[in-house]
Order: sequence, then structure tokens, then C-alpha cells
Amino acid sequence: MSRIITITSGKGGVGKTTVTANLGSALALKGYKVCLIDTDFGLRNLDIPLGLSNRIILDISDYLQKMCSFSHIIVKHRTMKNLHLVPGSKKRLSEMELKSFREMLKQIDSLYDFILIDSPSGLESGFFYALDGAHEAIIVTTSDKTALQDADRVIGILESQNELELSLVVNSYRNNQEVEDILQLLNINFLGAIPADVNIIAANNKGNPIALDPAIQSGVMFRKIAQNLSKHHYNQTIDLPTYNQTIFTHKKLKLSF
Ligand SMILES: Nc1ncnc2c1ncn2[C@@H]1O[C@H](COP(=O)(O)OP(=O)(O)O)[C@@H](O)[C@H]1O
Ligand SMILES: [Mg+2]
Repeated sequence: MSRIITITSGKGGVGKTTVTANLGSALALKGYKVCLIDTDFGLRNLDIPLGLSNRIILDISDYLQKMCSFSHIIVKHRTMKNLHLVPGSKKRLSEMELKSFREMLKQIDSLYDFILIDSPSGLESGFFYALDGAHEAIIVTTSDKTALQDADRVIGILESQNELELSLVVNSYRNNQEVEDILQLLNINFLGAIPADVNIIAANNKGNPIALDPAIQSGVMFRKIAQNLSKHHYNQTIDLPTYNQTIFTHKKLKLSF
């Protein structure tokens, strides 16, 4: 049986796809069988950081419409054969297709150790389907005030509606205090944080997940998060290296709504 984990957020553009691609790669590096599913229907892009865009022939919609078998839609990573991608659909899915999604999860449950679902941003269409059938959800946020406010809202909704194990990844932090402030505010299990780093943008564009590069600090930090995730190890005390290679100028944020 696999651990089905939805990567979600309140606001778009906070790094869900980046986190999904890199955690998936880091888990696959550790030898786990991993399936990454792109459910950001209409905005398919999880294939880009994985460098698999040219390999997509069929997508999730073809499977959900029963036009082909599951093995036909998966795209295997070039070097890590235990890392599979289920490409999202470029069009929005019908109600019927969305309903078949949960059925699909049941059918592939025994094939993988981890199924990571890259979800649309909070409360958009498809958001609840991406969580239907998941055991766990990772909320990704930056310190941006709107992202935090939306993350807080999504956490509230998920805590009230689902029996999901929730955890947090802070993305694009610029100093440790920022992360501490976010943790204090959101107060959920903390998996780890990734700094703002130009190398991540370059790696995404090249289709080489940064987690595969042990020479780059943010890549190592993705591996640490994958390690925490695999061990259910949530760390409430923050032990982040000071990161100098930032791409933004730090502005002190007041984290109250
Ligand atoms: N830690 C980071 N540092 C710098 N840029 C990042 C970082 N994480 C993500 N990005 C960039 O931010 C943009 C949005 O990231 P993405 O993962 O697509 O977000 P989402 O899936 O939440 O919309 C992309 O251009 C990505 O390369
Ligand atoms: Mg995305």
C-alpha cells in the first residue's frame, strides 16, 4: 500500500510543482517506487521540472475516459526508472473524469511506495478531487502575506473536513526568522524549508530536479525533507543553515492578519 500525499497550497505560484518534482526525485533516489500525478488540470506543468515534456503521448484524461490502460499513460524518468509521472490534462476534466480519479488511486495503490499529487491552488476546481483519496497533505507556503493567509485558510478547511495528516513546507525563505514566524503562525507539523534560490529556477527550466544535485545546498535540503517525510519525522525546532545565495532582498514581514 502506498502513502498518498497531496501537495497543496492556498495561493498559486508558491512552489507546489517544484516541491512535488523534487520530493519525488529525492524519494526515488532513496530507492522508493514513486508516482507523481499532475492534477493541476488545464495548467499541466509537472513534466517541465522533471524534463519529461517531450515524452508525453497520453495523459490522465485518456485513462480516466477509459481509452487506455494505466501503463500507457505513465512516463518513466530518464535515469530513475522507479520515478513515474502521470501527466495532467491540458483541458479541464469533466465531472465524470474527476469522479474516476479516486478509482484510479485505488487501482495503483499497490504499485508504489509513494504517490505524490501536485494539486491546483486552494479551492480552485479540482482542489478537492486532488485531496479525495489522499492520506496526507503537504501545505506549501512562502512568507508572502497573501500566501500565508491563504495557507492558513486551507489548513482550517482541511482540518475541519478531512482526516488528513497535515504538514508544512516553507518555500523561498530568505532568513531563518521568517520560517520561525511562519511556524508560529500556522502551527502544524513542519517538514522543512527551502530557501529562495536562483539555482532552483535554472534546474526547473532545464528539467533537472535540483534534489539530484548533492553539490547545491537547496538540493540537499529537498533530500532532508524527503528523509523527514519518509520517516514521519516532523521537526518543530528549526535547524536551518544560514543561506546567503538568495535572489530577493529581504524585507521584514509582520506576520499578523
Ligand atoms: N525556492 C525557490 N527559489 C526560487 N524560485 C523558486 C523556488 N521554488 C519555486 N520557484 C520558482 O517559482 C515559480 C513557481 O513555482 P511552481 O513550483 O510552479 O509553483 P506552483 O506549482 O505552486 O504554482 C517557478 O518559476 C519556480 O521555478
Ligand atoms: Mg503548479
